[in-house]
Amino acid sequence: MKIAVLKEAESGERRVAATPDTVKKLAGLGATLAVEAGAGAGANIADADYEAAGAKVGGRAEVLGDADIALVVQGPDPAALNGVKPGLILVGALNPFGRRDRIDAYASSGIEALAMEFAPRITRAQSMDILSSQANLSGYKAVLDAAAEYGRAFPMMMTAAGTIPAARLFVMGVGVAGLQAIATARRLGAVVSATDVRSATKEQILSLGAKPIFVENVAGIEGEGAGGYATEMSEEYKKAQADLVSSHIAKQDVVITTALIPGRPAPRLISDAQLATMRPGSVVVDLAVEQGGNVEGAVAGEIVERHGVRIIGHRNVPSRLAADASSLYARNLYNFLSAFWDAEGKKLALPDDDEIVKGVRLTRGGQVVSERLLG
Ligand code: NAI
Repeated sequence: MKIAVLKEAESGERRVAATPDTVKKLAGLGATLAVEAGAGAGANIADADYEAAGAKVGGRAEVLGDADIALVVQGPDPAALNGVKPGLILVGALNPFGRRDRIDAYASSGIEALAMEFAPRITRAQSMDILSSQANLSGYKAVLDAAAEYGRAFPMMMTAAGTIPAARLFVMGVGVAGLQAIATARRLGAVVSATDVRSATKEQILSLGAKPIFVENVAGIEGEGAGGYATEMSEEYKKAQADLVSSHIAKQDVVITTALIPGRPAPRLISDAQLATMRPGSVVVDLAVEQGGNVEGAVAGEIVERHGVRIIGHRNVPSRLAADASSLYARNLYNFLSAFWDAEGKKLALPDDDEIVKGVRLTRGGQVVSERLLG
């Protein structure tokens, strides 16, 4: 089987879907590898490194022409896939809810699209979990981005010239990104608090040395919701949460929001009126800005100032750590391919009844078949 690794076309995307390490491993399975020239440049990987790992490097047409599988980070423009082999398996972070138009186009071109972000959150799929590998880096980078914009230090410093108080940092949404944000902020010496709608996160917040701030007297999500994800909350819960946030946020120097609900716009957690209660010079990072934003006034791709508060809305935060993000992402894809590799036939074999395959498969035989997209 020939596996193509494409150069990303989206502006600002610096990641790449395979590294020399995973190229070598895939070649070890018996696949032929072809990498589009310049594909690794944004992640500091030279074409020569791919060649040394056993891949052919060439132009798009040469790489993709007779490929059976194409590895990507973001789903390419369907027009850029014209003329590929029928039944090409496209594996990537295809953003099925956000780019449904592209998924439909892949289906009509007979491409078999596999969206890795739809892998179920089960133990067997953990090593293939691109959402976790990328969100972890986003959580870390969000804290560093906040620290860079904040005109004060994070740790308490007792000096001969006086004492600097520790920054107070509040994390809203304690999934993978939020947990890493808490851990990173703690390492930098901030006083950290955090909140989530899932009660299970309370223990996790405490275990990282942060303070849980939770809505009491209104039921949140006990344990884990469907697939571990949050759902839209009741009006009563939203009101209680807004009151709680209002009283807490005015005392915070830095807020990092990460709250997402799969398939829906991100929940609004901070209003403009709440921002106005924060001290000038405070910083808010909205990691959900591309899904509609947790923070009123946040702008994707920009740092804006409201009431003296800087709101950071970087797009594609994992790409800001492109080398590490690529190496983890590439490993996720390798782990997926190798788990379903038929060693004798030296080809990918995706059983219809497998839970992971059923999750990631979006299109087949010219149709959209994903239950999450059709449901
Ligand atoms: P996510 O990126 O979908 O959302 C981030 C966080 O925002 C979640 O913790 C969510 O509960 C929270 N949130 C949503 N609405 C909110 C609101 N209105 N107010 C405050 N917080 C809100 O979540 P992520 O990081 O993808 O994790 C989702 C779940 O998957 C978690 O339960 C996590 O533990 C689980 N997981 C399981 C894995 C496994 O293999 N077993 C691997 C990775 C994550």
